[in-house]
Amino acid sequence: MCGIVGYAGNVTTACGKPLEVCLQGLRRLEYRGYDSAGVALTAPGMGSVAVRKKAGRLANLETDLERRPMPDATVAIGHTRWATNGEPSDVNAHPHTSADGHIALIHNGIIENANELRFNLQTEGYAFVSGTDTEVAAKLLGKVAATVIEETGKADLFESLRRVARMLSGAFTLLAVDDRQPDIVVGARHDSPLVVGLGEGENFLGSDVAAFVAYTKHAMELGQDQAVCISADNVTVTDFEGNVVTDSKRFTVDWDASAAEKGGWPSFMDKEIHEDPEAVGNTLIGRFNTAGDIVLDEVRIALEDFKSIDKIIVVACGTASYAGMVAKYAIEHWVRIPVEIELAHEFRYRDPILTPRTLVVAISQSGETMDTLMALRHAREQGSRVLAICNTQGSTIPRESDAVLYTHAGPEIAVASTKAFVAQVVAAYMLGLYLAQIKGTMFPDEIRGIVAQLKAMPAKIQWVLDTQCETVDKAAKRMLNAHSFLFLGRHVGYPVAMEGALKLKEIAYTFTEGFAAGELKHGPIALVDEGEPVVVIVPSARGRNTLHNKVISGIEEVKARGAFTIVVAEEGDPDAERYADVVFWRPICPTLLSPLVDVVPLQLFAMDMANLKGYDVDKPRNLAKSVTVE
Ligand code: F6R
Repeated sequence: MCGIVGYAGNVTTACGKPLEVCLQGLRRLEYRGYDSAGVALTAPGMGSVAVRKKAGRLANLETDLERRPMPDATVAIGHTRWATNGEPSDVNAHPHTSADGHIALIHNGIIENANELRFNLQTEGYAFVSGTDTEVAAKLLGKVAATVIEETGKADLFESLRRVARMLSGAFTLLAVDDRQPDIVVGARHDSPLVVGLGEGENFLGSDVAAFVAYTKHAMELGQDQAVCISADNVTVTDFEGNVVTDSKRFTVDWDASAAEKGGWPSFMDKEIHEDPEAVGNTLIGRFNTAGDIVLDEVRIALEDFKSIDKIIVVACGTASYAGMVAKYAIEHWVRIPVEIELAHEFRYRDPILTPRTLVVAISQSGETMDTLMALRHAREQGSRVLAICNTQGSTIPRESDAVLYTHAGPEIAVASTKAFVAQVVAAYMLGLYLAQIKGTMFPDEIRGIVAQLKAMPAKIQWVLDTQCETVDKAAKRMLNAHSFLFLGRHVGYPVAMEGALKLKEIAYTFTEGFAAGELKHGPIALVDEGEPVVVIVPSARGRNTLHNKVISGIEEVKARGAFTIVVAEEGDPDAERYADVVFWRPICPTLLSPLVDVVPLQLFAMDMANLKGYDVDKPRNLAKSVTVE
């Protein structure tokens, strides 16, 4: 939600580089928000900050910059916006400037006391041109910077920003530049992300590492309520009081800049769906010893504590919560402890029953979802351990958790989550199998058997991608004018149905409802009318699975009422063929692992529908990739 980038170089790297770094960073961060974009830069002797900003996609700003180039600079900041406060427009776009024009500031988050601060500034004579909370912070920073100059006789943007950070409530990452100190960029963060990129003779700031990974893979985390000042050769981190912080964690980004590029695919979503097999395979890598036992070294929870866990609560939002729902079926079966799934925003505002033996598992692709972050804090305050399942190094959720299990899906740029979902399911399964191993609830051979089946899943997902795309595409063409869809599933097929429904609504803007197939007769069947599309996940018929027949009966019932049925079923299932108008086939695989393949045609179907309707599948309207506000 809003992408932020900052760059400090020296006069030798000056010229166009600061602007180039910002635009390159914004291109990679555009998935975080795409309502408007802007940059500010300055250099010694410039005498002011230069600001350019435009409503709409980054391309609008780039066209404007080509027409009217900006001056060379030593430092620059850039912003891509997802509007929270004030509609998307040129004037509301960031950066905003101080009243004296010396300072430019960008912001991610929501400043909750902005109205009160605005009122105070207005009574002192400050005028505002925008409706944003960011402009309030910019005007306030200008005022505080002037006070600091009065007190000390010189400009001190770092100290000024810290003072402002202490005056704000809400969530914010702020970056600022000042023409009176044209060699530094300063930043501050509270409940909103910011990471530092460490270069040679240049340093970077970004909402996430994608902002600067094309220039450096060396990065540093910033903690909660910390401020940072970067110049070409130096990085200083302090708390908001000015105490220097020396223990900031450094890390190396484990993917290449090319991983965050389309690489010839028509869209990031298309590329990322085709990376489902790799995401599953990579998430399994390095998690076994030579004997084939599961080793989760990175999980820094003592073995005895782990063994004592008697309940798991998964907190997550959207797609990540459906990954948790899938994992519930497997973990309860394997470990024989209760697993509850709760939407993070609901969990946070109730009084959950937690003990030190409860493990709270926070699942998040971005590692920055505010609702999930608040839920994990809520759990830790009550003495529970939190384990994060996360895809983004250096992000806040793993940093604030007791332990982390990283999914290795690589950067996910398309707003709709696809490969992260399958990777989250695999990571949660690894956690479940590890618990079963250390608690002894399964025989080692049973665990090894499931691991072998998990290792076979990338090839099975690949089979779906290789053989089903055409059928999916044809189905999307037939369904183009449908106004609504129902998605049904049972057991692990239920969360898959929910996920399929979410994908279609978020990128094809079609009304969908996903529900448990057993609920059909308790209400939803009333919606079924002539031609109504109903998507059904059919469990395998093997092993006399009674659920198979029950789901097939559900298909018969909706067909009898005129529904158009699209069915995901196991290769060769004659019942599916008999009752379905369209079948997306899955290869044979164990029921508990079937969500890893069943979700794939639903991801493709949503993408095809959106493409056919002419929508931007990577950047659906009103959405942002990382929801850093509540
Ligand atoms: C849907 C989607 C969202 C996210 C949700 C949580 O395609 O992407 O529902 O899954 O906002 O995001 P993370 O996983 O970053 O916490």
